[in-house]
Amino acid sequence: MSAADRSVSAARVSIPDEPAFGVYIHWPFCLSKCPYCDFNSHVRREPIDEARWARAFAAEIAATAERVPGRVVSTVFLGGGTPSLMQPRTVGAVLETIAGHWQVAPDVEITLEANPTSVEAERFRGYRSAGVNRVSLGVQALDDRALVALGRTHSAREALDAVGVAGAVFERYSFDLIYARPEQSAEQWSRELRAALARAGEHVSLYQLTIEPETPFATLHAAGKLRPPDEDAARILYDVTQEICAAHGLPAYEISNHARPGGECRHNLIYWRAHEYAGIGPGAHGRLDIGGERHATVTEKGPEAWLARVEKYGHGVITDEVLMVAEAADEFLLMGLRLAEGIDVTRYTQIAGRSLEPGRIAMLRQHGLIETTASGRMRVTLSGFPVLDAVVADLAA
Ligand SMILES: C[S@@+](CC[C@H](N)C(=O)[O-])C[C@H]1O[C@@H](n2cnc3c(N)ncnc32)[C@H](O)[C@@H]1O
Ligand code: SF4
Repeated sequence: MSAADRSVSAARVSIPDEPAFGVYIHWPFCLSKCPYCDFNSHVRREPIDEARWARAFAAEIAATAERVPGRVVSTVFLGGGTPSLMQPRTVGAVLETIAGHWQVAPDVEITLEANPTSVEAERFRGYRSAGVNRVSLGVQALDDRALVALGRTHSAREALDAVGVAGAVFERYSFDLIYARPEQSAEQWSRELRAALARAGEHVSLYQLTIEPETPFATLHAAGKLRPPDEDAARILYDVTQEICAAHGLPAYEISNHARPGGECRHNLIYWRAHEYAGIGPGAHGRLDIGGERHATVTEKGPEAWLARVEKYGHGVITDEVLMVAEAADEFLLMGLRLAEGIDVTRYTQIAGRSLEPGRIAMLRQHGLIETTASGRMRVTLSGFPVLDAVVADLAA
């Protein structure tokens, strides 16, 4: 077992795996569109009528609360797009609406995704007064040339300054970096990552660059003008990432997410642990447990179309499907096996109405792709993570 294997095996999520309810709010606007990004984010010339958006969010929150009343909100996540373009009073209005429809846990985690520019950092205190207690900053790189290539509008200095403000204003903050960028060597990435970790709080998200279809990066890639590292080189970068982060006290608790014990993002844990969450805003996904059935909801993706639907019908939900037992079970595996803590096998049996097949487990274990923890949970090993989809497909078959 290599040092990297040990580090990931040692990682635990220190937050108990108990039922929780999260609310996701999607803000779909950005000042410019980054060429690698396929999130539901849009650039608009005209100013956004935030009061109108706040009313629409309020209507959809109310409609959702009617379907799942009596929940205690453990997390709220304002994601995007660029939610740090919202006025603090808009954020405050959304949080007040949530508190008006559900009970909010005293230790609620309220995260806002922010772009790391000086303009946005100026709003941090306003967000904090509105109730936000955690920010997640899209730093992406600490190299100015790489930031230009990624189409970012901030420099490394500006991003680090915003991280400094986040640390001064909020109890908790995280930032994102994108690695496995074109021509990025393991040495360069190691240096960049160490410099970043020197500024990190309790959490960082480290994503390998993905070439998303129909993005400008996909066009460049197809034309041979953008060459990210091949699979072997990306694997080395991944291993280096695990080692450096673990040595720094931020082991991976999920494939791309690292935290000190207790610093895990509780909202994202709700997704990975297949608990319940409401999806509010354009293109948001939800999972609502109603009458013993698990509903998968999706709202209208287009910002203006979503707004029009909410104003007409009181909500923007365009898909509401009850998950079949097999679908819910596969989703539980796919999401749960992303976590270093793995899955509770008993809960799988409850959801699927059957146990995982011992023969398949034995085979995957023999290949060193999965292991069972002392507490009886099943998890993917570091060697298994790069082939996670295949491991899940094998277990689910
Ligand atoms: C909703 S996005 C961004 C939040 C914020 N608007 C920003 O850009 O700073 C969340 C994160 O996904 C990551 N991301 C987006 N597209 C990606 C891609 N193609 N490959 C890898 N990571 C990506 C970025 O690190 C980004 O910060
Ligand atoms: S990466 Fe962030 S700022 Fe860039 S387009 Fe995507 S959501 Fe917007």
